[in-house]
Amino acid sequence: MKKWMKKSWLVSLGLVLVLSVGLAGCGSSNSDNSVKKIKDKKTLVVGTSADYAPFEFPIVKNGKKQITGYDILIAKQIADDMGVKLKIENTEFSSLISDLKGDKVDLILSGMTSTPARKKQVTFSKSYYTVNNYLLVKKADANKYNTVADTKNAQIGAQQASTQEQIAKKQTKGNVVTEGMVTSLVTELQQGKLDGVVVESEIADNYLKTNPDKYVKAKLKLNTPSTQSHINVAGRKNDKKLMKQVNKTVTKLQKNGDMDKLLQKAENIQAKYGTAK
Ligand code: ARG
Repeated sequence: MKKWMKKSWLVSLGLVLVLSVGLAGCGSSNSDNSVKKIKDKKTLVVGTSADYAPFEFPIVKNGKKQITGYDILIAKQIADDMGVKLKIENTEFSSLISDLKGDKVDLILSGMTSTPARKKQVTFSKSYYTVNNYLLVKKADANKYNTVADTKNAQIGAQQASTQEQIAKKQTKGNVVTEGMVTSLVTELQQGKLDGVVVESEIADNYLKTNPDKYVKAKLKLNTPSTQSHINVAGRKNDKKLMKQVNKTVTKLQKNGDMDKLLQKAENIQAKYGTAK
């Protein structure tokens, strides 16, 4: 090989190396402007389904309707830590993931469980709450649903696209009715259109506390797989920096004990204002 040929060959090799290193850089954190985008618009937009006291529910304060709750207080902390405002987008639970993927919201805080199927579509933060499930029934039916066999032919409600829908279908023999809002399901239970509604522990206890004369948890035991018991914040798969920021806030709140206090605070707000429609 002639000397000049050797030299140009080396130069091209060098170019290829520089180029590939540069490209690799683009593929990773360099192109993740998830945090910068939020700081630029000075607003963190969070999607939720406000039918889920004490996690997310509407109240009327000073004549104005607003969404509050445990998740919203956590979201406010995340926004505060980023130095931006918080905007809540209230929608049905079943639309949340597509809203996130379609860039309508930056994060989901909606009592959302990190299931394997959802993990294919979104990224989850570390967990901030653990739940299990109950069949909520009318007080008069307190002793009616003790075993799976007792649910035969019963009308069992569950929120559309929720883990409760799967639990109702797999673990009862009832006719499962799904709807967009938990609040409507519970109203239908009250009206006698449904015999039971599968709900998570914290939500069932909330209905018992606010309506002690109306509802009870049935004796029927529902099993909550560990893949359906952890509640987390959801974000877009590529927004790694944003999720890192979320985890920072979640860890801080867990370490300083504020995570528990925020749930208490949400319950106090509910006690004071009630829940609006
Ligand atoms: N944890 C359940 C799930 O992820 C139900 C969550 C419902 N949340 C709500 N805000 N309605 O499927």
